[in-house]
Amino acid sequence: MKKIVICGGKSLSGQVQIHGAKNSLLPILAAVILSKGQCIINNCPPLSDVMTMLELLQCIGCKVEYGNQRVHIDTTNISNFKMNDCLMNKLRSSIFILGPLLARLNNAELGYPGGCDIGIRPIDLHLKGLRDLGVEVTEKEGHIICSCKHLIGNEVYLDYPSVGATENIMMAASLAQGATVIVNAAKEPEIIDLQDFINSMGGRISGAGSSRIVIHGVKELKGTTYTPMADRIVTGTYMIAAAATKGEIFIKNANIDHVSCLAGKLRESGCIINVEKDGILIKNKNRLSSSHIIETMPYPGFPTDLQSPMMSLQAVSKGTCIMVENVFENRFRLAGELKKMGADITIKDRMAVIKGVKQLHGANVFTHDLRGGAALIIAGLCAEGITVINDKGLIDRGYFEFEHQLKNLGGDVVVLEE
Ligand code: EPZ
Repeated sequence: MKKIVICGGKSLSGQVQIHGAKNSLLPILAAVILSKGQCIINNCPPLSDVMTMLELLQCIGCKVEYGNQRVHIDTTNISNFKMNDCLMNKLRSSIFILGPLLARLNNAELGYPGGCDIGIRPIDLHLKGLRDLGVEVTEKEGHIICSCKHLIGNEVYLDYPSVGATENIMMAASLAQGATVIVNAAKEPEIIDLQDFINSMGGRISGAGSSRIVIHGVKELKGTTYTPMADRIVTGTYMIAAAATKGEIFIKNANIDHVSCLAGKLRESGCIINVEKDGILIKNKNRLSSSHIIETMPYPGFPTDLQSPMMSLQAVSKGTCIMVENVFENRFRLAGELKKMGADITIKDRMAVIKGVKQLHGANVFTHDLRGGAALIIAGLCAEGITVINDKGLIDRGYFEFEHQLKNLGGDVVVLEE
């Protein structure tokens, strides 16, 4: 258990550089399997989820060399399509290897994916899409057993614009015979990043970023060198931290288009946000007014991954905020921890009513998931007194050196490894 000890009340100021996007890197690292050759991925921080994905690739037979936020992967001789349960269970994104394994080896035998406990997180849409591409899928005794002679292009309709299902189907369809059209596809920027990555290997995908993606299958994909986009959720987390601590931060290489919904909410509440050529400047000197209503939606709506950090900000804003979590069914566990710090939050099913208080006070709190952990750090930074955050390593899954960066920005943050 890691303890993060924060003495609140300091405004954050300075500059921060955003690392490669976790939710781009994880599908892209899986998509590497599609090529028979060498891939180099830049801007790849050693997040624990990234390191677990690299372990999965090694299990399949990839040669992996990692150093200095760059990974070199040789997929020439992959052969193993059976994945052990404990590795699969370590993260939700392990399911991303399913599509590429089928495309390369026509077989896959996996345990079920794991991940944060923000909801049940079924994979029915992933499996439906693969069945549409001609895969025989059997689920028995806690395993998913898949096989196909070869993948055949088809029209795949998604009942819900699932990010992961869209990505898995895109990857499988890249080496299918014929064309695939994904209807009601997810539109997140990470999907565009995955399209660009696969096309850099010789793939033929178009339409990512819209709800209709067309993939023309090709015979083979070759190795490539690629730099993924900056992490928009980490960007948004720093923006909220600056707003909550009445600070001023320049967020280098951040893309305002990827956080436009959040930027709109923060501006409405009184933040100043300037878009510069190589990043975003955000500053706030006062206690902000509340956002009144926040509903999480698929992109380009308000991102569910910023719901928790935003709850911490609303907890100290002027007025009342109604927050509705439309994407996951169990993503309000942060509220119980914020209430230990004096927050006034009422939860009813997927709705949270947050009455802003003038000041939170320090407390001993616990992280329950990745984004809730980051949100507790924000709450500790603007609370009065000392906050101790007991973290089971959840924050390191998605934030590289977060506490260290906050310290550089003037936050009074100490990490005690136990
Ligand atoms: C991705 O998860 C992200 N993870 C999540 O980020 C993010 O919150 C989510 O998309 C939504 O934007 C990665 O990209 C690695 P979904 P994913 O499939 O793909 C239901 C973080 O903190 N659903 O769009 O799992 C599901 O239960 C993480 O970085 C099905 O019903 O999200 C959920 O209610 C958390 N059947 C909704 O769709 C399926 O087969 C959204 O899930 C798949 C999903």
